[in-house]
Amino acid sequence: MTTNETNEPTIGVILGSVRQGRFGEAVAHWVVDAGQAREGFSYQLLDLAEFNVPALTAAVTPGAANNQYEDPAVTAWSKAVDACDGFVFVTPEYNHSVPGAMKNAFDSLGPEWAGKPVAFVGYGADKAIRAVEHWRQIVANFSMFDVRNQVGFSIFSGEFDEAKAANAGALDRMLTDLEGALSARG
Ligand SMILES: Cc1cc2nc3c(=O)[nH]c(=O)nc-3n(C[C@H](O)[C@H](O)[C@H](O)COP(=O)(O)O)c2cc1C
Repeated sequence: MTTNETNEPTIGVILGSVRQGRFGEAVAHWVVDAGQAREGFSYQLLDLAEFNVPALTAAVTPGAANNQYEDPAVTAWSKAVDACDGFVFVTPEYNHSVPGAMKNAFDSLGPEWAGKPVAFVGYGADKAIRAVEHWRQIVANFSMFDVRNQVGFSIFSGEFDEAKAANAGALDRMLTDLEGALSARG
């Protein structure tokens, strides 16, 4: 298990929208803040917009790249993901599925994901139910353990502060399950 300077396992909270003015920024910070208020695990934000992962064009497929990538942006992304023991994917739903930039960032790596636990916080008109279901199929390709409990926001549900309060219990349960899966993995 990877550990940081505090000797705690690291959970990366991936902010998957790279849009200007993205709603996801507030959601991801809420998750990171909740995680950092817990004990025993280090929650860190991985903001996809900061990595500028290019469209996957490399001839060598990520699964065969042995963590060696031509593009320095992909190398930086690889190191950040590799340093995490588990993840929370904060995902919007675009056109009834996962957002393209986030899927491309996922596709651009291979062993960095393998076997690690992942939980989902989705948001959209219908709480990104379809996007999260698609993510569950996608992460299965790397034998990731997907936590059943999930958190979903409707972007039309009014004030975000109220939505956060209403979802705090669900987030707590999901993070407990994620940490449990991570501990069981050893
Ligand atoms: C390209 C695109 C497609 C979208 N498709 C859906 C959709 O299928 N279902 C949904 O609930 N919301 C959809 N939305 C609305 C998004 O849920 C909403 O814009 C949300 O704020 C996007 O997250 P972001 O602001 O963090 O990028 C779509 C938005 C965009 C930009």
